[in-house]
Amino acid sequence: MIAGAPAAGKGTQCAKIVEKYKLVHISVGDILRDEVKNGTPAGKKAKDFMDRGVLVPDEVVVEMVKARLAEGDVKQRGWLLDGYPRSASQAEAIEKEGIRPDVFLLINVPDELLVERVVGRRLDPQTGAIYHLKYSPPSADIVSRLIQRSDDTEDKCRVRVATHNANVDAVVGYYKDVKVDIDGTQSMQDVFEAICTALDETIAKSDPLEQYCKDEPAADECRVYTD
Ligand code: AP5
Repeated sequence: MIAGAPAAGKGTQCAKIVEKYKLVHISVGDILRDEVKNGTPAGKKAKDFMDRGVLVPDEVVVEMVKARLAEGDVKQRGWLLDGYPRSASQAEAIEKEGIRPDVFLLINVPDELLVERVVGRRLDPQTGAIYHLKYSPPSADIVSRLIQRSDDTEDKCRVRVATHNANVDAVVGYYKDVKVDIDGTQSMQDVFEAICTALDETIAKSDPLEQYCKDEPAADECRVYTD
């Protein structure tokens, strides 16, 4: 799971994580925006809440996430859940299903940096790539096709940040045992390296031979023989 305030860098890092670790990226914000764009019943319910920068009700979100987590590609490749859970009730809903992350990445960025990141963000509708006019500038040939999210204004950002701050402690409470704090004020590449360290350690811990070799480094199975 990856969590953090609006514009903390979740989407940016998820693109890099899925490229390296081949997980299925499930972004609840992206799924909801697709539902809104397609005018589905769920999208019609979600739109007003998203426009206001507050949480979409659980009745829309929870089943949507559970259904996506049950799909074949997710079972095969594993999941990277971005933007869920955002409240105690959402965490509770998946706890009941026995769905828990191996690691909970919390990207920390002070509130005062978030507004600048939000208002400078631009998205490429053709590739899904995320840019920032200052921190990750697009090339001149694609600038004209880039779009800005309707909730990426200063006022809406402040509401979204307040919503995040009101809920984050309750969510973190469910995942204290697997939480890794990431300093999101670093460069995008340094943030990614910190995330890779956390993921690699988690993978190593879940490999029984790796763990055994850590505990018993002199054991025969742990020696490397060369010709
Ligand atoms: P969602 O789409 O999830 O938005 P969010 O949480 O507000 O997060 P963002 O997508 O804004 O930011 P990000 O952290 O992905 O940052 P990014 O990488 O783009 O949710 C939208 C709405 O949907 C919610 O408000 C709510 O209404 C609804 N919703 C979603 N999930 C829900 C749920 N579970 N329950 C109920 N409702 C839900 O980066 C931002 C910018 O910063 C970019 O321009 C990027 O280039 C730049 N940047 C990134 N990293 C760095 C860095 N290290 N240094 C400098 N710049 C950087």
